[in-house]
Amino acid sequence: MKVSTPASFFALFLLLLGQLCHGTDESRSRTINPCCHYPCENWGICVRTGLDGYECDCTRTGYYGENCTIPEFWSRVYWFLKPSPDVVHYILTHFQWLWDIVNRTVLRDWLMRAVLTVRANLIPNPPTYNSKYGYLNWEAYSNTTYYTRLLPPIPEDCPTPMGSKGKAELPDPDLLVQNLLLRTKFRPDPQGTNLMFAFFAQHFTHQFFKTHNRVGLGFTKALGHGVDAGHIYGDNLARQLNLRLLRDGKLKYQVIDGEVYPPTVAEASVNMSYPPYIPADQRLAIGQEVFGLLPGLSMYATLWLREHNRICDILKAEHPTWDDEQLFQTARLIVIGETIRIVIEDYVQHLSGYNLKLKFDPTLLFGTSFQYGNRISLEFSQLYHWHPLMPDSFLIDGDEITYPQFIFNTSVLLKYGVEKLADAHSHGNLQAR
Ligand code: HEM
Ligand SMILES: *[C@@H]1O[C@H](CO)[C@@H](O)[C@H](O)[C@H]1NC(C)=O
Ligand SMILES: *[C@@H]1O[C@H](CO)[C@@H](O)[C@H](O)[C@H]1NC(C)=O
Ligand SMILES: *[C@@H]1O[C@H](CO)[C@@H](O)[C@H](O)[C@H]1NC(C)=O
Ligand SMILES: *[C@@H]1O[C@H](CO)[C@@H](O)[C@H](O)[C@H]1NC(C)=O
Ligand SMILES: *[C@@H]1O[C@H](CO)[C@@H](O)[C@H](O)[C@H]1NC(C)=O
Repeated sequence: MKVSTPASFFALFLLLLGQLCHGTDESRSRTINPCCHYPCENWGICVRTGLDGYECDCTRTGYYGENCTIPEFWSRVYWFLKPSPDVVHYILTHFQWLWDIVNRTVLRDWLMRAVLTVRANLIPNPPTYNSKYGYLNWEAYSNTTYYTRLLPPIPEDCPTPMGSKGKAELPDPDLLVQNLLLRTKFRPDPQGTNLMFAFFAQHFTHQFFKTHNRVGLGFTKALGHGVDAGHIYGDNLARQLNLRLLRDGKLKYQVIDGEVYPPTVAEASVNMSYPPYIPADQRLAIGQEVFGLLPGLSMYATLWLREHNRICDILKAEHPTWDDEQLFQTARLIVIGETIRIVIEDYVQHLSGYNLKLKFDPTLLFGTSFQYGNRISLEFSQLYHWHPLMPDSFLIDGDEITYPQFIFNTSVLLKYGVEKLADAHSHGNLQAR
């Protein structure tokens, strides 16, 4: 064990003390949980045996041996042939002439199918762990109030919060933010990512990242665990019914200066997270409770509200026999399909930088073995905290708007309207000062 600081030295001292007390106190007599050292490699699972032993479960890792370190024959072949991720990325982002051919032929479908199945197979499904359970069990599978976890939680009885490495106490979060997360200087994104993208990311992901803070950081309020458009329709039926007009399948709305916007909470009585000083007539009612936070989010909420109601008009004209419920349910499915299409063909396309023209086509996966079930993981949420994308201030229609004027201020959306906001947010690297 490496001892680099007084703190971990102290932890070691306490452990030694624990060892010395062996026999005098049953609860302190246990040796260190060997799984705290993370001995199992290549995704092998550490299982304790006896009082101080462990075994690595190497099932389906492609490795064997005490610590799952010895590759099986086919693993050797695989690793020999597999191009490195860097090489794959290089190919996907270069060779325009090659992709010119791929983009226009059946090769595009073939590769897209490969992208989807390869990526999906990286994720354990059925889901494995959650913040309470570091081993397989029914509860971790069935209790969807938890986020799942790709990595099991650190065993509770370890010498350090990270197992056996690192300091005995985690650093002060403020210090962590100061040193690792806080952006001091705005650097424009080399790919030209703009605020329309940033707010799309935030809007889209907050349908499935809804940490249930009151219950615990390992829990989520978004029980759909995926793209269910709960940020438009609410994450439960009561909320959905309050947001619905219950006529023609539509959602409630208000009209200001001839433009459609989400209703106020007076018209659609749902709980929203606004600070107390925001008067009720300025509280917009949206599926996601926090979307009053930023005009960029209420802008997308407005766009999707308009889109839902637009779809309802078309459906009703085509299917005059459908009732409110069927119009609503069908429009929701269409909105979800449109969302996934935008996410794959515009959003992920931009993020990836690939020359392969990505495609949303559910039929690509017909006849393949593909897991449609989804479970959002805690790690995914942690990785999606893309706050450094935010500029120092917002420039809208010639006005510079600071954060105190921007956050929880629905007047910004209502004053400028969707078009001017979308326009302002569409300029790449807008605040590169
Ligand atoms: C000015 C812009 C933004 C503000 C003021 C803001 C504010 C916040 C706040 C207050 C939280 C809750 C933190 C907590 O509960 O500990 C949060 C969480 C989060 N934010 Fe942002 N945010 C902004 C932009 C973004 C953007 C652009 C993204 C991009 C995807 C993003 C992703 C997230 C995620 C993933 C969470 C965790 C949500 C959850 O687990 O419930 N945020 N943000
Ligand atoms: C497996 O890991 C343990 C703990 O790190 C180590 O003591 C042991 O020598 C390893 N076994 C093999 C076969 O490498
Ligand atoms: C193939 O499609 C991608 C994504 O739309 C595009 O960026 C790329 O320029 C296309 N490649 C060629 C050579 O047409
Ligand atoms: C899920 O787990 C939490 C925490 O253990 C518990 O309070 C809750 O009742 C469980 N929910 C279900 C549906 O089992
Ligand atoms: C809305 O919030 C109030 C006050 O926090 C609470 O009493 C009420 O139960 C909430 N309503 C719903 C439907 O969540
Ligand atoms: C909210 O935005 C409006 C329109 O931009 C602005 O006039 C007002 O001062 C803002 N409110 C606050 C509290 O900054």
